[in-house]
Amino acid sequence: MHIDLLPTAESIVPAELTGCTAVVFDVLRATSTIVTAIAHGCRGVVTVVDTAEAQEVAARLAGENTPVLLAGERGGEKIPGFPHGNSPLEYPPEVVGGKVLVLTTSNGTRALNATIEGTHTVLVGSLLNARAVAQKACRLGRDVTLVCAGTQGKFSLEDTLAAGMVVLEMVEMMDPGWLCSNHQPPSLDLADLAVAALHLALAYRENPRRAFNRSHHGRKLFSMGLAADLDWCASLNTFEVVPVLKAAKKENGYPIIEKC
Ligand code: MLT
Repeated sequence: MHIDLLPTAESIVPAELTGCTAVVFDVLRATSTIVTAIAHGCRGVVTVVDTAEAQEVAARLAGENTPVLLAGERGGEKIPGFPHGNSPLEYPPEVVGGKVLVLTTSNGTRALNATIEGTHTVLVGSLLNARAVAQKACRLGRDVTLVCAGTQGKFSLEDTLAAGMVVLEMVEMMDPGWLCSNHQPPSLDLADLAVAALHLALAYRENPRRAFNRSHHGRKLFSMGLAADLDWCASLNTFEVVPVLKAAKKENGYPIIEKC
C-alpha cells in the first residue's frame, strides 16, 4: 500500500487521487471541529468554500425543515452574520446533536471539497481520531493520500503532525517492529514526505500540544485567546469516529460529511 502526503491544499492534483483513500487534515481547527461535531451526534457537516453559498445552503436546509447550524471563520474570527464559529468547543452534544452543520473555513473546507473528485473515499482526520482513521484506511486496503490543508498555501506543522500520527498508527498495525529497522516497512510503501511526517509524530507523540506552541497558526490562535481550542485539538485518539465525505446526494445536491 502506497502512502503519499500532500503538504498543502494547493498541491492537490485531482487526477493523482484516482481510486485512493484520501485523508484530509486541518487540525487547527476545521477537521477537529468536524470530528468533534460528528462524535457529538451531529447528523452531517456540509462543507462550503464560499460564505454567501454557505448562507444559501443553510437557508435552503432550514426551508426544508432540517435543523441547521450556520458556522464558519475567516482569519480565525467568526464571520459577521454567522451565528457560530469554528471552535470545536462550540459543539457539545446538546448544541449539535441531530443537526446539520453548514461550515465554511479559510483552508479546511477548501481542502476537503478539492479531494472529492476521483478519490474512492475521503476521510476526515485530526489528532482526535488518528488511530480510528488509520484502522479505517488499513481496512479499505487502497493507496492512501494524506492531504494537509496548510495555511494559505503554506506548510502547517500541526497538519503534518496529525498525518504523521496516522502513518505511525498504520506502521504499528501493519509492520510492528519496523520502526527499529533501516528499511521501508514491508507492507507499506511510504513517500518521503510520509516518512518525514512519521518522524514528526515520533518527536511529538508524548505531547502534541507542544507542536502547537511552535506552529504559526497555533501561536496565532493562542494570541487570539483560544488556548482552550488548542488544548482540545491536541488531544490524541479521544474519539473513534471517522467522518466520511460523501459525494452529492440526489435529494439535496451537495457533498456531506457523515459518520461512516
Ligand atoms: C481553516 O480552515 O483555515 C481553519 O480551520 C482556521 C481556524 O479556524 O483556525
